Amino acid sequence: MQELSSIWLNGKIVDWKDATTHVLTHALHYGTSVFEGIRCYKTLQGSAVFRLGDHIQRLFDSARIIKMCIPYSHDELYQATLQTIRENQVDECYIRPLVFRGYGEMGVDPTSCEVISAIAVWRWGAYMGEKGLKHGIRAKISSYTRNSMNASSPRAKTSANYLNSALAKTEAKELGYDEAILLDMQGFVSEGSGENIFIVKNGVLYTPHPYSILLGITRDTVIRLALDLEFDVRETHCTRDDLYLADEAFFTGTAAEITPIVEIDGRPIGDGKPGPVTRQLQEIFFRVIRGEEETYIDWLDYVEKRKE
Ligand SMILES: Cc1ncc(COP(=O)(O)O)c(C=O)c1O
Repeated sequence: MQELSSIWLNGKIVDWKDATTHVLTHALHYGTSVFEGIRCYKTLQGSAVFRLGDHIQRLFDSARIIKMCIPYSHDELYQATLQTIRENQVDECYIRPLVFRGYGEMGVDPTSCEVISAIAVWRWGAYMGEKGLKHGIRAKISSYTRNSMNASSPRAKTSANYLNSALAKTEAKELGYDEAILLDMQGFVSEGSGENIFIVKNGVLYTPHPYSILLGITRDTVIRLALDLEFDVRETHCTRDDLYLADEAFFTGTAAEITPIVEIDGRPIGDGKPGPVTRQLQEIFFRVIRGEEETYIDWLDYVEKRKE
């Protein structure tokens, strides 16, 4: 990765190379950490973070689920994120807040280990490539089942949950696909390894209900945009057959943004090209994140004070 200059660590800005941790850090062994993935975009009025407050809130929700107390307030982490972007002098970046159990006692019980908080930023282009955004990607239904709601809380963005994602992603790539789609314990579609999923059928948008997924902020954004465009949007059970028979399909995520899916398990989706609804949503989404849609301007948190 391309290194930048600094990282926010426990309330202080430190040199990038000094943001290190001990090998007996609890989270490294037992997955006891929560994190976020956020993007900052160049907009008409300067750089702005997309839905920063909502991401910070999800970080606190994840921590609450795993009973870890974040030693900073919502506002402190909000301000620290903006400060980290400014320190690194980037006008666009990906942002990674991370809160984890550090060095203390070994053993599964994390309660005696200190809680460490960090925020890093780096430059990151399209997650599945510009080509993926434009022409769509090929996905495969994974042989791995998504973390179940009573096993490891898919709604919490914990590092532990991402072993499930990493296994599915690696399998999909080894088999020549770009991304995995995981089914839940009951066999219904849940999500991608790092994205939520939508399908379009006869002009209606369908997306899996919130039980076995991370509640994506991009998912929420797309639902709101689609409703405002007067689409019918349904959060529901989706089966693999619904995927195969969809007119269109796409992934949503902070990293993936809105990425069309043009093939699943060797079956073309619709005519095998990104469809018109996906295109329409992509178009408005990219206008929104760049501050070109006044209606949604409140979703932007400016790095420097907004010029009036
Ligand atoms: C498993 C999983 N589902 C969904 C998402 C999409 O969430 P968001 O749109 O908030 O980035 C992500 C990305 O963070 C993810 O890792």
